[in-house]
Amino acid sequence: MTAAIEVKAVDKSFGNVGIIRDLNLNVAQGERHAVIGPNGAGKSTTFNLISGHIKPTSGEIRLNGEVISGLRPFEINRRGLSRSFQVTNVFARMTVWENVRCAVLWATGHRYAFWKNVDHLPEVKQRTAQILDDIHLSHRRDVPAGLLTYAEQRELEIGITIASGASVIMLDEPTAGMSHAETDRAVALIRRLTEGRTLVIVEHDMSVVFGLADRISVLVYGNIIASGTPDEIRGNPKVKEAYLGEEVD
Ligand SMILES: Nc1ncnc2c1ncn2[C@@H]1O[C@H](COP(=O)(O)OP(=O)(O)O)[C@@H](O)[C@H]1O
Ligand SMILES: [Mg+2]
Repeated sequence: MTAAIEVKAVDKSFGNVGIIRDLNLNVAQGERHAVIGPNGAGKSTTFNLISGHIKPTSGEIRLNGEVISGLRPFEINRRGLSRSFQVTNVFARMTVWENVRCAVLWATGHRYAFWKNVDHLPEVKQRTAQILDDIHLSHRRDVPAGLLTYAEQRELEIGITIASGASVIMLDEPTAGMSHAETDRAVALIRRLTEGRTLVIVEHDMSVVFGLADRISVLVYGNIIASGTPDEIRGNPKVKEAYLGEEVD
């Protein structure tokens, strides 16, 4: 079967500084794939490359078999890839409802226009309500997103990312800054909402990574030093030496 994501020999330099070096990554359809590695290894940069927010210096990226490197983010999004950012990225002054509706409108191909009343579109309304229900924020629907708790904002963001109906979801540190209880909730949410889709996740909490991922790639200094199942990664001496150390013993 065609890979959901295929990154082939990608390099990325900022000025003279090579940040991503000969990056090769394969994510199968329907797989939950975690990317781990130390701070500054290039995990977010890898996401930016795949989602089209930055362009590779060289190499090729495919989504469902189609070359997407060189396309713009919205074009890649239209082809079925949706991502979240490491920093919370919701519209603080819009209500929870409006934030989700905005994503739904985009996903259903409606052009937003301020003079149009979009609330009468039944499928948009229904979808928005469904997503709010999925992320357990129905009771907060009329609250400006900026007034949500931090964890609620991140959950809203996960909902918005997934609302697009994309088949490939990329989440960059979705549980960062959350308590244990909030993390558990968020992971359950991610698991449920990405059922039947492909997930690529950057995550620093190793219990989350090893509990959630089907496969793991380890990024160190802009290069993937190992990809494999959790057991393979756990037992890989190169990974232990370069990154995980005693963390997984
Ligand atoms: N737009 C940019 N211009 C210059 N350097 C950048 C840019 N984006 C990221 N970097 C550098 O690339 C390296 C990897 O960053 P990043 O991908 O954010 O790491 P990670 O997400 O793994 O912590 C860092 O050294 C960072 O400073
Ligand atoms: Mg990062």
